[in-house]
Amino acid sequence: MRDDLFNSHNDIANFRFDESVVEVFDDMVKRSVPGYDSMIQMVGLVARMYGKDNTNYYDLGSSTGAITLAISLNNDHKNNKFIAIDNSPDMVKKCQQNLSKKIDNLEVICSDINEITIQNASIVVLNLTLQFVDVSKRSALLKKIYDGLNPGGVLIISEKIHFDDNENQEQITQLHLNFKRANGYSELEIANKRQAIENVLISENKKTHIDRLKQCGFKETSCYFQCLNFASFLSVK
Ligand SMILES: C[S@@+](CC[C@H](N)C(=O)[O-])C[C@H]1O[C@@H](n2cnc3c(N)ncnc32)[C@H](O)[C@@H]1O
Repeated sequence: MRDDLFNSHNDIANFRFDESVVEVFDDMVKRSVPGYDSMIQMVGLVARMYGKDNTNYYDLGSSTGAITLAISLNNDHKNNKFIAIDNSPDMVKKCQQNLSKKIDNLEVICSDINEITIQNASIVVLNLTLQFVDVSKRSALLKKIYDGLNPGGVLIISEKIHFDDNENQEQITQLHLNFKRANGYSELEIANKRQAIENVLISENKKTHIDRLKQCGFKETSCYFQCLNFASFLSVK
């Protein structure tokens, strides 16, 4: 369904992943996140490279299930469990509907990712999710993921990022706005969504992400994909 959630002059509340967003999420994310389809495809390819037999694959903040689906379609390993977790009951319902007939060994869990246990993992993905986690909880979450990964396992993080250099920030912001305009969003929709999401999505710069990952135990992190202000990081344990 086409996203026209912010096409009105109503009072704008903070953005929430509720039923109304679930209905339009797939359209919204493709028209708002430059390179989204490639980002998903790349996660699938990374998972193909690093997945291992007899291990768990985690999709944290799974929304409608795009990452879990990409990982499962690329998977040529044996005896894997796919665990998709989201704290929005509406998203969890949609993810179940989308994936239950397509993936064996699937568990879709409604929970705060800060509360769950990660174990025997070869792949953990936080695709556009860490940016919605309280900044003060991000290190503890990444440390828990590090501890739950087997040696050689990977964490993939995709995020909206910002830039320290003002000119660079302004240039990329303009390009991102033009991307949304080119995808049919009006000025009103862009302004309303920005207002709704401003206190909810807290972006960080590349260095902050890479430094935090190092502090949590990951020796090497590479930024292997970027389209405008959206980047994907790969960290190997
Ligand atoms: C932008 S969406 C993720 C998109 C999805 N991973 C994809 O690639 O299509 C962010 C998701 O994270 C979920 N989320 C945010 N904070 C969470 C938390 N603390 N625990 C679990 N899920 C969370 C939201 O409900 C939402 O579905």
